[in-house]
Amino acid sequence: MEILIRDSAEIGCILGAKIIARVIREKPDAVLGLATGRTPLLLYQELIRLHRDEGLDFSRVTTFNLDEYIGLAGTHVQSYRYFMRENFFRHINIDPQRTHVPDGTAANLHAECRGYEQRILDAGGIDIQLLGLGRNGHIGFNEPTGSLRSRTWIKILSEQTLRDNSAVFGSFDAMPKHALTMGIGTILDARRCLLLAFGPAKVRAVEHMVEGPLAAICPGSALQLHPRATVILDENSSAGLHYADHYRWIDSQKLDWQRNG
Ligand code: F6R
Repeated sequence: MEILIRDSAEIGCILGAKIIARVIREKPDAVLGLATGRTPLLLYQELIRLHRDEGLDFSRVTTFNLDEYIGLAGTHVQSYRYFMRENFFRHINIDPQRTHVPDGTAANLHAECRGYEQRILDAGGIDIQLLGLGRNGHIGFNEPTGSLRSRTWIKILSEQTLRDNSAVFGSFDAMPKHALTMGIGTILDARRCLLLAFGPAKVRAVEHMVEGPLAAICPGSALQLHPRATVILDENSSAGLHYADHYRWIDSQKLDWQRNG
């Protein structure tokens, strides 16, 4: 795991956007795995800026989002399809046909999960998967104790996740309690993973993900198995790491070709 600690979430997001932009420049038909939530918003804004000011071209890019709430149509303002359209897709030159989000209203949700896996395979697999980290260590909506080899599946959201995300729904009761999510096995199949975690609320999850045992109780710790996982943190989220000086040292000694962005 490559650990990059930056002074602020803003600087971390700019670095994350640079990493993704480089993937697209090197491979114009890249397949991106995308996340929603508060964490990547600034990263999407930076990618939009790179598109607008520096001609970053999304016309041949394909995307697959990690997850979607069950029961919410893509027109629902709290659906992840809507989030992606408003915060990213409508600001860049991506072909909407190439953007994939699991369909939380599918009549047969199991078939939707199998079909999603197949669509990722048909696209040639994911070149870089963007991830956030739940306060309880979840990635996608893979909540604690879910199988580390899971494929796209139906998950029950934890109470912690419901508490963290229910504000935008107005109340705990109004929020969907189930979601479709890529599995941890699906995420680990991406050729590269890029996880962002910022702020003091993520301290414990970051500590377990990076330095704790590989364990289903912290789904993010599965990234310890990934051959090319980059984790971008800020001073707040990295405050619990015991080996922060080591990560900073490694970062400072990189050869030019090993540097990101
Ligand atoms: C969202 C997702 C989630 C979030 C996580 C962190 O698509 O997969 O795992 O990344 O819940 O959410 P924020 O960024 O809002 O703290």
